Amino acid sequence: MTLEEKAALVVGTGLQFGDEIDKNSPYRIPNQPLPGTLADRTTVYVVGAIGRTLEIPRLGISTIEMVDGPAGASLGSRTTAFPIGTALASTWNEPLIHQVGQRMGHETLELGLDLLLAPAINIHRNPLTGRNFEYFSEDPLLSGKIGAALIKGIQSQGVGTSLKHFVANNQETNRIEVDAEISQRALREIYLRGFEIAVKEANPLTLMASYNSVNGNLATENEDLLVKIARQDWGYEGIIVSDWEAGVDPVKQMQSGLNLILPGPYQDTVLIEAVKDGRLEEKTLDKNIEWILKGVMRTPKFRKYRYANAQEFQKNAEVAKEAAVEGMVLLKNREQALPLMQENNKVALFGNGSYETIVGGSGSGYVMTAGPTVHLFEGLKNEGFEVSTTLSALYESYIEQNTPEQNKIEIARGRKKRAPEMKLDNDMVMEVAQKNDLAIFTISRVSGESADRQVDDNFNLSAIEVSNLKAVVQSFHAKNKKVIVVLNVGGVIETSSWKALPDAILVAWQPGQVAGNAIAEVLAGQTTPSGKLTATFPESYEDEPSARNFPGTPLDKPKRVIYQEGIYIGYRYFDSFQVQPSYPFGFGLSYTDFTFRDLELSTATFDDSLLVSTTVTNTGNFNGKEVVQLYISAPAETMHKPRKELKGFVKTKKLKPGESQKVSFKLEAKDLASFDVGASAWSVEKGEYLIQIGKSSADIILTETFSVAAPLQVETVSRALTPQIEIEELTPKNE
Ligand code: GLC
Repeated sequence: MTLEEKAALVVGTGLQFGDEIDKNSPYRIPNQPLPGTLADRTTVYVVGAIGRTLEIPRLGISTIEMVDGPAGASLGSRTTAFPIGTALASTWNEPLIHQVGQRMGHETLELGLDLLLAPAINIHRNPLTGRNFEYFSEDPLLSGKIGAALIKGIQSQGVGTSLKHFVANNQETNRIEVDAEISQRALREIYLRGFEIAVKEANPLTLMASYNSVNGNLATENEDLLVKIARQDWGYEGIIVSDWEAGVDPVKQMQSGLNLILPGPYQDTVLIEAVKDGRLEEKTLDKNIEWILKGVMRTPKFRKYRYANAQEFQKNAEVAKEAAVEGMVLLKNREQALPLMQENNKVALFGNGSYETIVGGSGSGYVMTAGPTVHLFEGLKNEGFEVSTTLSALYESYIEQNTPEQNKIEIARGRKKRAPEMKLDNDMVMEVAQKNDLAIFTISRVSGESADRQVDDNFNLSAIEVSNLKAVVQSFHAKNKKVIVVLNVGGVIETSSWKALPDAILVAWQPGQVAGNAIAEVLAGQTTPSGKLTATFPESYEDEPSARNFPGTPLDKPKRVIYQEGIYIGYRYFDSFQVQPSYPFGFGLSYTDFTFRDLELSTATFDDSLLVSTTVTNTGNFNGKEVVQLYISAPAETMHKPRKELKGFVKTKKLKPGESQKVSFKLEAKDLASFDVGASAWSVEKGEYLIQIGKSSADIILTETFSVAAPLQVETVSRALTPQIEIEELTPKNE
């Protein structure tokens, strides 16, 4: 391999969005070969692919061609828009998510691509984070397990994945410059833990280093992160790649354990010079190339797979809908307002989102669907409801007249500007209440890459939404008719100030292209909701522990963000500091009821593992699934600890009324361990541990104790990622 070839192989070939991008786009890489580099490195074979690696036919090196993203292959309008990451995680159903992965993988394979740039498993550190819709949870175990299930599903089809964004890409505000200062304990237990689980259990083909810095070093130039932790501590065997145009210094990237710079249209000239003037050793390139070639050999291109473009859209749509339905979370259901009964089938449908249902978030995680988007309006009609045409006519013409013009790029990446929420006229609402049996009121939100959300009019409801909701509730309740709120959102919003008003609240998330059909299926009771919250809904934004320091300082263009809350994020904070949330982590109602009984432990004194089992019974009148959550409270003599932490979860099969299922968990020492920074080790304190089996983090049904006779040092790891500054971290004592 010549030096030119080596240098070209460790950088990507370029970035193309296909013909949707205007010719002046900053994203379009000049299509002519750059001086001193190999010819034609910018074309992709599949229009719309987001980049690829160099191929060297004379050496039998095939290309790895890549496509976004976490909701399925984002390739113009030729693919299936699956539910967003948060919706997938809200199913808490690993086998189902494995199936979703299989469908995403099959679609990617049959498009002639080799790598799907998914899953994105950054922690929901703050509700305003623009990309939370792509991510899974505030909890690292749930993030890691759902991520592993998705990776295994996708890779079972022969294509690769990209576990991203490694690590602590927890905000969009100034993401390419901000330095996240995080304690080593918070890193290991919260921000790295999900990646560790997914790497060890699913071996993703690539691991994508993020834009931001971690404790003073850019992630793509961070040897502690990429070599000490990913390679040495975790034994990661895949290709470590950069996020698109992340980082600054290609030489430092090569020396820090980054194997592949993406998209990389020019960095090879820099690397060639650096080798020639001795600033970069050629063997460093060789080491990175070795990782790349190992990855190349895991791809369909290398196996000369002859893709048939034989898409199975129907099958994909079915699995997408099943996941969308199982990810929906029922927050409130006063007097069994849901499921809707067929006899009350005249529906007054309010909210822009009812007629322009948001299927996903914007940016690289957006998928323009192959099939038509089914809005809630259509979905309810498909389910046999008679939906008011007075209202649909009003909303549809309003949306048509008030949607701002946008250029083609915006459509391609989902950055569509939407009409503001239509203001309702009270007299009209009264009239509609007279003619219909019930009201459904959709609140929709869209967020995405490159911008974080705002508190006003986004996390909080807007004044129009509040006044509309009050008008609808007043008019329908005056006639003793129900009001159902549907949250068509990509992440947590404020609920406590208005949740008393409606009779029911269903979080539908952004459910992918099958949106309306999936929501209608749950509202009509064809399927009982079984989703559970993967992030806390706080009473107010200010209650969030990270609200005090998000998104860093200076506010307009933060250079540094300090994770002062440490490990106390999400329920670890609300539960440990007794701050009442509006809806807790793990919460979700059903149309039926479940009881748990017979909690059994294999031993009362932990040796090297512990088996736990319990039995779930459906004691209600509907078929349904339950998520059995296992939390542990550990002794906190030598280290402060959260009051409880999720250490296992199992989703039951669909249980008929009266049917039971025994579920079991296996706990190992690492599951009981906390990260001791001084020793740079995962260690288990001696003492009494409390196992809690619950329906949510705040609804514990069964408990049992076991003990650990002596401290255990489970695993010593590299001393890595020391913060640049002294972090005055929140702990239960110093709150
Ligand atoms: C984007 C995103 C990453 C995506 C990549 C390619 O900036 O951060 O998630 O896979 O670039 O679009």
